Amino acid sequence: MTNKKNNSLVTPYGGNLVNLMVSADERQELLERSNRLPSVKISARSLCDLELLASGAFSPLDRFMSKADYERVLTEMRLTNGTLFPIPVTLPVAEDALPSWGEQITLCDALNNNLAVMQLEEVYHYDSMREARLVLGSTDPRHPLISEMTHWGKVYLSGTLKMINMPIYHDFLELRRTPAEVRALLQQMGNSNVVAFQTRNPMHRIHEELTKRAAEEVNGSLLIHPVVGMTKPGDVDHYTRVRVYRALVENYYDHDRTVLSLLPLAMRMAGPREALWHAIIRRNYGANHLIIGRDHAGPGKNSQGKPFYGPYEAQEMMEQYSQELGVTPVPFQELVYLADEERYDEQDKVPEGATIYSISATQVREDYLAKGVALPEWFTRPETSEILGQMYPP
Ligand code: ADX
Repeated sequence: MTNKKNNSLVTPYGGNLVNLMVSADERQELLERSNRLPSVKISARSLCDLELLASGAFSPLDRFMSKADYERVLTEMRLTNGTLFPIPVTLPVAEDALPSWGEQITLCDALNNNLAVMQLEEVYHYDSMREARLVLGSTDPRHPLISEMTHWGKVYLSGTLKMINMPIYHDFLELRRTPAEVRALLQQMGNSNVVAFQTRNPMHRIHEELTKRAAEEVNGSLLIHPVVGMTKPGDVDHYTRVRVYRALVENYYDHDRTVLSLLPLAMRMAGPREALWHAIIRRNYGANHLIIGRDHAGPGKNSQGKPFYGPYEAQEMMEQYSQELGVTPVPFQELVYLADEERYDEQDKVPEGATIYSISATQVREDYLAKGVALPEWFTRPETSEILGQMYPP
């Protein structure tokens, strides 16, 4: 293994990794009790949030936010104890789904599997448009989270949580790891510098270039950390994407310094605020650097046809808070392909008059996949082209 230094990784955000899983002894008793408590079914989004709360990915947050934390996060991006935390993590429930008795409830998934017991400490109303305005900077329903929020239950619940079962999966189990498990793998690699790559898209050559450059730049390990929870509606499904990531890591990355792991995050598409949140999450998984390129976590255009966030707003906000977060951004301008020189470079470094090639996501679907045309090798690896072709047969 190269560069073996056995150095320690960055500490979790707030000092310690939260772990809400109960001990084996307590679990049996709690499991039985949970069957007798009133239950509340939670949404796919809340399920993702619950899993990441339980595994410590949101440390130091250890519960769906109380009203006081929520209010301060909206207006100042901080928890009540002053910790920088940019995104509300709340549990919306319909008022008529609230139990009429008891101070403890069982949180269940859509199939009624018991997941956690919550000590119900607070039930509070919220104003979804105020939240949207303060966190997302908009109330435009073209933003995917804003349109979703209009269907949420009208109250938020908060209280201590005891996790009985983690959400159940049947896919890619070997790539689903908790922060503690990812930390153990990174620790073995021996680099204290770790750069994380957030993505919700299939990786093409440009992304490969970004990640390899970043790993070189920090002289450390690379954590390829794609989101497989909820992304933007219309994105390529995660099964297809994970096949792509797996093939690429297998064939084109240095196995001594690369970890591929899946993140069951429910994205908010909150641009700059979301970038800070991604940094907190990745720090909990052991990364002290995060790649922030063009339009990080951007939701696209609003109903006036203008982007919700500027292409480099996320980089600017990360720059401002990176010291406090303990995560250094690795920023990139838009990366493009220089056809004559057969290389990639950042847009602002392209020599004048150079021929630039680019293919948009719409062109990928309409001009290549729909017609059964293989994507060119400068754009994507043949493995990726083949996997995408299987998913979108002509
Ligand atoms: S995101 O919603 O997860 O940010 P995506 O998967 O497209 O979307 O991007 C992952 C990361 O790569 C983000 O940091 C994004 O800014 C960066 N990125 C994607 N494409 C480019 C590009 N052509 N040039 C520079 N950065 C890029």
